[in-house]
Amino acid sequence: AAKVSALSLNAKKRKGNKISMVTAYDYPSAVHVARAGIDMILVGDSVAMVELGHETTQQMEVDHMLHHCKAVKHGLEFVKSGSMLVGDMPFGTYEYEDTDIALRNAYRFVKEGGCDAVKLEGGSEARAKTARRIVDGGVAVMGHVGLTPQAISVIGGFRAQGRTAVRARALLDDALRMQDAGCFAVVLECIPANVAAAITETLEIPTIGIGAGGGTSGQVLVFHDMLGMLSHPQHDQFVPKFCKKYAQVGHAIQDGLKEFKEDVESGVFPGEEYSPYTMTEEEEVLFE
Ligand code: KIV
Ligand code: NA
Repeated sequence: AAKVSALSLNAKKRKGNKISMVTAYDYPSAVHVARAGIDMILVGDSVAMVELGHETTQQMEVDHMLHHCKAVKHGLEFVKSGSMLVGDMPFGTYEYEDTDIALRNAYRFVKEGGCDAVKLEGGSEARAKTARRIVDGGVAVMGHVGLTPQAISVIGGFRAQGRTAVRARALLDDALRMQDAGCFAVVLECIPANVAAAITETLEIPTIGIGAGGGTSGQVLVFHDMLGMLSHPQHDQFVPKFCKKYAQVGHAIQDGLKEFKEDVESGVFPGEEYSPYTMTEEEEVLFE
């Protein structure tokens, strides 16, 4: 597949073609996302919540993220995917005044994790300075403004952002700062649709929305949420309001596991069909 790049994404925005992005955290999810031809694959720090069961994304370290990036990279290679691989820089690895720290960590995502770009949260002057330093160092940076889950202790909860005129204006300034810093795209998370559309029209770079309405240049969803990985006939899965569920994979997993248990207990499995090995003359010699 043709390689997705900052350039091709920008062309999509200009032509009005929408950009698709989905998270992946391991080899099978990466193979699935890449096979579907999704434009951008994000190794999100949402891995903390949907894969590791943490309540926030704040626990992740660069080493944890790279562990997942490497597995996802193998999936992309297997599929010969042209999707762009973006790695989330985790909380506490890029916020320091000493931008060397952020740059060094960004290089690890490229050299060790195989990422094409990194993503970082926030839109302050300080964050823009950091993004500019990373871009100047040769690593493409994706911004992320609006709801920035790493700052949960400051924000106070997972809730919509930019809901007043003043706050919407501040969000636009955040996005503009990240664009001016050299970001090739920016995620807009949990903001009113009209605000996201206005930001998208103002910016030259593509915006990728999540809970930000249909006026963005593209959409991103979390793999586990959109596919119902924890769906179950008797137990509700919490999925954010903005997330459409495209499958109930958890149902299929439960069905398979229950059937296996029943088959084991009844002796139906393995049966003759799944007992393929018979002794041979040669193998008998080995036992002598
Ligand atoms: O970590 C993540 O999954 C993200 C997306 C929701 C944009 O940052
Ligand atoms: Na994230």
